[in-house]
Amino acid sequence: MCGIVGYIGYREAWPIVLKGLKRLEYRGYDSAGIALMNNSGQHIYKKAGKVAVLEEFAEAHDKSGTSGMGHTRWATHGVPSDRNSHPHTSNNEKLSIIHNGIIENYATLKEELTNRGHEFKSDTDTEVLIHLIEEIQEIEQIDLLEAVRLALHEVNGAYAIVIMDKEHPDRLIAARKGSPMVIGVGNGEYFIASDATPIIEYTKNVIYLKDGEIALMTREDLLIKQLDNVIQTPLIQELELKLEMLEKGGFDHFMLKEIYEQPRSIKDCMRGRIYPEEGKVQLGGIKEFAEKLKNIDRIIIVACGTSWHAGLVGEYLIEEYARIPVEVEYASEFRYRNPIITEKDVVIAISQSGETADTMAAIEMAKERGATIFGICNVAGASIPRLTHAGVYTHAGPEIGVASTKAFTAQVTVLTLMAFYMAQQKGTITTSKLIELLTELDHIPEKIQVALESNDLIKEVAEKIKDSTNCLFLGRGSGFPVALEGALKLKEISYIHAEGYPAAEMKHGPIALIDEEMPVVFIATQNSSYEKVISNIQEVKARKGKVIAIVTQGDTEVKKMADYCIEIPDANEAFLPLIATIPLQLLSYHIAVMRGCNVDQPRNLAKSVTVE
Ligand code: F6R
Repeated sequence: MCGIVGYIGYREAWPIVLKGLKRLEYRGYDSAGIALMNNSGQHIYKKAGKVAVLEEFAEAHDKSGTSGMGHTRWATHGVPSDRNSHPHTSNNEKLSIIHNGIIENYATLKEELTNRGHEFKSDTDTEVLIHLIEEIQEIEQIDLLEAVRLALHEVNGAYAIVIMDKEHPDRLIAARKGSPMVIGVGNGEYFIASDATPIIEYTKNVIYLKDGEIALMTREDLLIKQLDNVIQTPLIQELELKLEMLEKGGFDHFMLKEIYEQPRSIKDCMRGRIYPEEGKVQLGGIKEFAEKLKNIDRIIIVACGTSWHAGLVGEYLIEEYARIPVEVEYASEFRYRNPIITEKDVVIAISQSGETADTMAAIEMAKERGATIFGICNVAGASIPRLTHAGVYTHAGPEIGVASTKAFTAQVTVLTLMAFYMAQQKGTITTSKLIELLTELDHIPEKIQVALESNDLIKEVAEKIKDSTNCLFLGRGSGFPVALEGALKLKEISYIHAEGYPAAEMKHGPIALIDEEMPVVFIATQNSSYEKVISNIQEVKARKGKVIAIVTQGDTEVKKMADYCIEIPDANEAFLPLIATIPLQLLSYHIAVMRGCNVDQPRNLAKSVTVE
């Protein structure tokens, strides 16, 4: 939530910061702003709307300067407006700040500052922080770095901040707690951003700022210290990210590109981890816990949104193959309950971004209570992989479309591998069965490729149902999480109200909604619940509902009943979610495009939900 980018060096800052903001726009896009330092002082441009609105607004203004910072916002405190856009300035307007996160005690601080004569120009929590820093600096007569450090001791909440000072235009100060920040190290220049995407074309050398660290950047030097004033030796790492991964590569939208990347991303996810001829799975990230896995009592999966749906698929697979009881919890609920957790529990936290605030809080709570925590994460170096004891990266590559697609199938792939790995450790699966399953899994990317070839047909179906106001998605067994994921994709990018249900639950309520206006999407592939799903389809047809069925290639039964059938290749039930999800992603995509929606940046959403 919110993207921040800063630069200090010898190049013009405006184009670097602006381009960086466009890359970070997936994190928030309701307003944007940039502050620049040049010989005539500090210039701040900020506008409600997308980064493009800011770019147009600043067209005729002075944009020179070799240090600057910018922000793209996802509103928490105060509506999206010019005045609530970042950067915000201090009372004397000498200091400016951009901020990602939430200052939870801002109301108390604001009241105290107001009583002491501070006047606020916005409704944000961020402005309170910069006023506080200014006040501490003035009272204590200390330098800005020290004032920031002391002020941060007084705030509760999460932050990644960058601060500029009119009186010291040759400095940028940054700090983080709970929100991500990466410093790019160049020759005579430094970059800072919420992730590495704004930095990659200038340098591959980065430092991931840790929680509770403050950085002071000049053109020549970098100083990092902890909030308790201890100076740190920075660890410079080399980025694996490639520039082409951040571009649309000829597709109209990132979402479509990412849907089409899935044969590749799943292959990358399995690379070096499966040995079909030997019937063996290797997961280096959790191998030091191999022994422990033999004796665990229970697995708790915590996640949010699409990642939670992947967790449900994981539950089916782990229980089926490793015979370990699994509970799947919404991180936001789990963290505020008083769950019973023991040292024999393993918690698996799933997160594409690795920054989701609720998932992080759930991890911290489970860790305090002695559980072993595994992470399944896509973004290397994010906060969640740092919090967990061990983990497995999904290697799906950067996911820029706000609606998760390739990250979901990569999460499901990792969970499939984990289920087989645990089964292998516990001896609940034979080698011959593993050889059979892994041989098929190895070919799933080709089956996904085949599923993608139904794109034209899916587009035709989309045309028929694009004007619906509601839609139901039904499935049984591991088709149920697929139905949930299909419904979430449709509602989040097309704004059509959609619900996912276990197909058999339909008659306990949702059946009342069915009439000739209601499209019902069934996961009706030929697996153990095929006959039962056919009965559910008949129930919908009897009430004149419009049936769209995802069926196994060559199906004849469902075709007799359904209005539209989309075929996918046959596969073992264990791998069904990996393939059946593909047509649902494409269906949502085409419907959203036909309805004129902003597919990559749906309203009100952000890619990284760093606030609870
Ligand atoms: C939906 C979507 C969200 C995320 C959720 C968790 O398409 O992307 O529901 O899955 O916000 O995010 P991560 O996986 O980053 O923790």
